[in-house]
Amino acid sequence: MGQNVLVVGKGAREHAVAWKLLQSRRVDYVFVAPGNAGTLTMDRDRCTNLPIKVGDVDAIRNAIEAKNIDLTIYGPEDPLIAGHADILRSHGHLVFGPGADGARLEGSKSFGKMIMNKYGIPTAQAVSVEGINQADTAVKRATMPVVIKADGLAAGKGVFICQTVEEGRRVVNQLMMKNLLGKAGHRLVIEEFLQGPEASLHVVTDGKTFRVLALSRDHKREFDGDKGRNTGGMGAYAPLPDQSWLNSAIKTIVRPLLAALKAEGIKYRGVIYIGLILTKDGPKVLEFNCRFGDPETQVILPLLQSDLYELCDAAARGTLSSIKPLIWYPGYATGVALVSGGYPGTIKTGKPITGLPLVSPDTTVFHAGTRYENGQVLTDGGRVLTVVGRGSTLDLATAVAYNGVKGISFEEMAYRKDIAQTN
Ligand code: AMP
Ligand code: GLY
Repeated sequence: MGQNVLVVGKGAREHAVAWKLLQSRRVDYVFVAPGNAGTLTMDRDRCTNLPIKVGDVDAIRNAIEAKNIDLTIYGPEDPLIAGHADILRSHGHLVFGPGADGARLEGSKSFGKMIMNKYGIPTAQAVSVEGINQADTAVKRATMPVVIKADGLAAGKGVFICQTVEEGRRVVNQLMMKNLLGKAGHRLVIEEFLQGPEASLHVVTDGKTFRVLALSRDHKREFDGDKGRNTGGMGAYAPLPDQSWLNSAIKTIVRPLLAALKAEGIKYRGVIYIGLILTKDGPKVLEFNCRFGDPETQVILPLLQSDLYELCDAAARGTLSSIKPLIWYPGYATGVALVSGGYPGTIKTGKPITGLPLVSPDTTVFHAGTRYENGQVLTDGGRVLTVVGRGSTLDLATAVAYNGVKGISFEEMAYRKDIAQTN
């Protein structure tokens, strides 16, 4: 008998995970909680949405028991940081996603830094400060530019790159005295500014061994040429043409990190997404995330030939060493996020989307903020769709993605025109 899998989340990342799970011969049925119009309509015989909020762990547990779900895969970080994987495991359920102890790598920047410093993992030099006086002193002592980071979760809004001491002190004041980001900004990490291209390194682990996923890069700023505000991600591509640094990253970052988790008594079962910067002194860690990247997942999974269910199931069970090395399709994938005008600020929703479904062998459209109403797909969030193109070269994949974008429209649709064309 095949397996039932639950994917928790509602973004394009979760649509991509559900889409890839449906390609597994071992999977009978995929539930997505709460999902979106894409997960609802992709395969009505084998996949449906459950009207459950991502953070409602009791409802998720009830659904697992009522629907005989064999494996639960978490998309977003918040419920993992809140310990929901621990709760489900304590009831005997199999979960892909770390417990609260491992999720702290993302939930607290100073915890992540502490681990890196204690175990010699290369990262920006930093101090962790509490209180305005400590923060002010650290900014005055720092070399400019300096990077100021809120300790807690800030949905991509917690990083400030400051060119002068005055600017740094203004940011510190906003965070600590004016509560700009609430509690997340009461402890800060003040760190050295690093330079180089960035890369996303995803490592699936069962706490003992690991598998590396295709290397990818996302584009976080809202406008072409990396201008404008930070967003959740405006696009991504994979694999990276230059992978010369990977062995060094595995030796200096991945292996020491997994050893560190073990030494700290943390049994990590899920994916660690390591945000890297490739400096002239080698790869260094910018941040840890306790989940798949979004939009990176939308370009990684279409390239994966191996069975995603088997990978996640083995990581959740602690039997990752038993699965074969991962196999990848040749070629590249480029993903372009179509967003509601105004994103990452105030946006309007409820706009009809035309041009869906897009049927082409090399293009896949993953839904993010969409909902299905009276036979129509409507916008329902900031990031609305990720259009993914595949091709034998990166340029071809990118051309295919933008060709797909041409057919789709909704009022005030916006997107970057330079995905996969800059670092
Ligand atoms: P984070 O959320 O920590 O990944 O930071 C968001 C973005 O801020 C990164 O993708 C980088 O572009 C930038 N950033 C963060 N830390 C640094 C640093 N130490 N030096 C330079 N840029 C940084
Ligand atoms: N790609 C950015 C993130 O998932 O956090």
